[in-house]
Amino acid sequence: MFHSQVFLRCWKKVSFVDAKTGLYGVFGDPVGHSLSPVLHNWFMRRFGINGVYMAFAISADRLQKAIQALPTLGFVGVNLTIPHKEAVLAYVDHCDLQAEIIGAANTIRIVDNRVDAYVTDADGFVLSLHKQQQRFHNASVVMLGAGGAARSIAYALARLQVARLAIINRTYSRAESLARFVRERFQLPDTKALPEGEQLEGLSSADIVINTTSVGMYPYTSESLVKDPRVFHNGQLVYDLIYNPSATRLLHDARRNGAEIQNGLDMLIYQGLVSLNIWRQDTYELRAADLQELRQVLTQELAAHE
Ligand SMILES: NC(=O)c1ccc[n+]([C@@H]2O[C@H](COP(=O)([O-])OP(=O)(O)OC[C@H]3O[C@@H](n4cnc5c(N)ncnc54)[C@H](OP(=O)(O)O)[C@@H]3O)[C@@H](O)[C@H]2O)c1
Repeated sequence: MFHSQVFLRCWKKVSFVDAKTGLYGVFGDPVGHSLSPVLHNWFMRRFGINGVYMAFAISADRLQKAIQALPTLGFVGVNLTIPHKEAVLAYVDHCDLQAEIIGAANTIRIVDNRVDAYVTDADGFVLSLHKQQQRFHNASVVMLGAGGAARSIAYALARLQVARLAIINRTYSRAESLARFVRERFQLPDTKALPEGEQLEGLSSADIVINTTSVGMYPYTSESLVKDPRVFHNGQLVYDLIYNPSATRLLHDARRNGAEIQNGLDMLIYQGLVSLNIWRQDTYELRAADLQELRQVLTQELAAHE
């Protein structure tokens, strides 16, 4: 390859920082393994945005000061990850309706010195489904987990007009309280918590099973919440929000028993894209080739951390 070609290829990948560079980032604790800087700096290069995205380790007791400093420092926007998604709502000037309903935010936009909060996990989940979206209409869904991510997924399920939702959770009272919340706030009347005795039957008869818990995530890759894989079958879709490993034990078991599977990598990508569109007030889209490249870049980044 000629030197000029090498130079051109490098040139396309380098982002220059100058006096007009927009500041973006993620606040979390811990944040050292976050994929968001790789994801968003890839977006910046792909879409020709003069911006830089960094990870900031912000402890819970410093969140308020960090949020209040954003307009002064000239940030365009930040993402929030564990443990700040719910606490941040107390420190913002305005909360988007979806974030208010879900009770959490993962995206902050600074506009005219005002701090606005949004949540993009539900949109990210819906976009990650691609052509599978139709399968959710009138479907019977079992969701494992009742934490923060589960709340966004339940919101998305209501929008996708599933017929019924059953929630399985280690702490049963949290499943009950999320089910009540979903019935009342998301207008999904056929939502209930599944007690232990009804879980096998519930899983076997579900069209779609979604894991929103962290069970099975690296390094605990041999774990799965579904102890009897025979509940999985042909015609079922099993979705795991976890993307590391790319196929959890749950997904392996489901695939072996004939179910279709999907991991959480595309949801991660699309929730990030929705954040970018909020910050930039734009409509950036990913082509198939972009998505393919991003999946590879993020998978390599994950492998480098292990
Ligand atoms: N792909 C994406 O874009 C994306 C986006 C958001 C989140 N996520 C993933 O979703 C997962 C959950 O995140 P979150 O924010 O919802 O966390 P969270 O609010 O802490 O909720 C954790 C959930 O997992 C359950 N759980 C945790 N450890 C368990 C165990 N050992 N046995 C049984 N249940 C257990 C909890 O049950 P209890 O109620 O009993 O504690 C709760 O339902 C994480 O793996 C996160 O990486 C992925």
